This record gives sequence, C-alpha cells and structure tokens, in this order.
Amino acid sequence: MKSKRTTAPSIIARKNTGKKIVALTAYDYAFARILDPTGIDIILVGDSLGMVCLGYENTLPVTMEDMIAHTRSVKRGNTQALLVGDLPFMSYQVSVEQAVSNAGRLIQEGLADAVKLEGGTCEVDKVSAIVRAGIPVMGHIGLTPQSVHQMGGYPVQGKHYSSARQIKQDAKALQKAGAFSIVLEGIPGALAQEITDEIKIPTIGIGAGAHCDGQILVLHDLLGMNLDFCPKFVKQYANLGEQIQSAVENYISEVQSGVFPGSEHTYNQKETSLRQVEEAG
Ligand code: KIV
Repeated sequence: MKSKRTTAPSIIARKNTGKKIVALTAYDYAFARILDPTGIDIILVGDSLGMVCLGYENTLPVTMEDMIAHTRSVKRGNTQALLVGDLPFMSYQVSVEQAVSNAGRLIQEGLADAVKLEGGTCEVDKVSAIVRAGIPVMGHIGLTPQSVHQMGGYPVQGKHYSSARQIKQDAKALQKAGAFSIVLEGIPGALAQEITDEIKIPTIGIGAGAHCDGQILVLHDLLGMNLDFCPKFVKQYANLGEQIQSAVENYISEVQSGVFPGSEHTYNQKETSLRQVEEAG
C-alpha cells in the first residue's frame, strides 16, 4: 500500500526509473474499494465501460453523463491512485471549446484527476487547450476503439512503415502538446519500444509488448469475467466469471434443497415463538 496519492507529475517522474507504472480500468465504487489497498498507480474509468458494464457492441454510445456517473462512483472508493476519466466519442472531436468544456466536466462533476482522449496529431489542438486549462491529459494512440468503423474492426495498427511512422509522429505531437503520458494500444512491441525510447513522457501499453513504461488492462479481462472472448494480449489472473456462476448455482441448489438458510443464518427469538405466545393467550 502506498502512503501518498499518485499525481500526473509523479507519473511523469517515473520515466526512466525502472519502476513500471501499473494501471487498470474500474467502473464503480465496489471495485475501486477492492483496488484501493493494492497500490495500483492509475485507475482509468475507460469508455470500455460501454462494452464491459453497459452491454453495448462498441464504445460509441457512451455519453458524458455515463462517464461522469461512473467516474464519481470510482472516486468514492479510491484514495490513492491517479483517477483518469475517459472522454467519450463525440465529446471532444467537434471543437477545442467542446473538448475543454467536457474535460472540465469530468474534473468538476466526475471528480477525476486527469482525462484521456483518443487521437494523435489530429487532436493536439484539443490536448494543448485542455492542458492550458490546468487539466492533465493522457493521450491514446495506435488502435483507438472510437475509430472502430474507420478501422473496420480492431486490427493491430502500425504493422507497416507508413502507419508506424504516423504513430510515432502522433506520440511526439502529443508530448509537444503537453500530455503527461500516452496509452499505446494494439501496436507491435518493437514500435512501442522505439516510441518509449524516443519520448520523455511515459508510455502505457495495452497489447503493445513489454517495453512500455507501464501497462494497463481492462479489469474485467484480467479477472476472467468475460466468458465469451479473451484477446491475445490479455492475461487472466483469475477466473471470476466461472467462480461467480458456480457460486450462484450452489446458492440456487441450496435454496431449493433447504440447506440455505441454515440455523447459523437465522435470528433467534429471545424466549418463545410468537405462535406459542398466541396459543397460550
Ligand atoms: O476505455 C478503455 O478502457 C481504454 C483502455 C483499454 C486503455 O481506453
């Protein structure tokens, strides 16, 4: 357990220290409380919320109201990690004014410490304006799920020279715009390593190999709560999905057979039962 709150400057200071930055997503108070004593550096309330908790096919339907409600919920259970709120689709792409105003809402109403947005060179005007407003920004490049229709799914990015070069330019542009860190998602490990070596702010990888300054995973993936699918880059550290199903099946069976509730789960009356008192009277 860490004694001090993680801040955006303390994340920047971790670059080149040899101590990896460890981040996870979370979407509610219950999980935030479980994560809090672990010493996790960053909690991201990602717009993956849309798929993980709200059951959408992709992240595009997630709204500012969804993000604010879930970020506030995580905030109530988090005392140590840097809390990053994700700007959802169409909450920053339209204009610099819209981006600053919605980043401000995630800080003021969602109680986040920082915001994240997807996109490189094309979004740097928004990043620098949000940073000028005093809000730390985490970039997110490579495979950017809000562009699912443009990418035609979720293919690994930067496999070929021109797209690798573009991703590297994006990283440098985000650094120049004042981002305090950059998520590198779904790119070859060698490209992530080159970017990590060439920029001064930390890179946080997801599906980007071992050479980033830190790693992030979707909490429900790591816990094995997605029973349908496990991407190649995910390591499941538990199989909670199966454990939860088996616990609920046991509960159903014990209620049906009368094993639960047992006498140890039942409150006793001080003296006689109500029926005995009524019969005696
Ligand atoms: O929305 C999200 O959870 C993310 C992480 C996977 C980086 O963007």
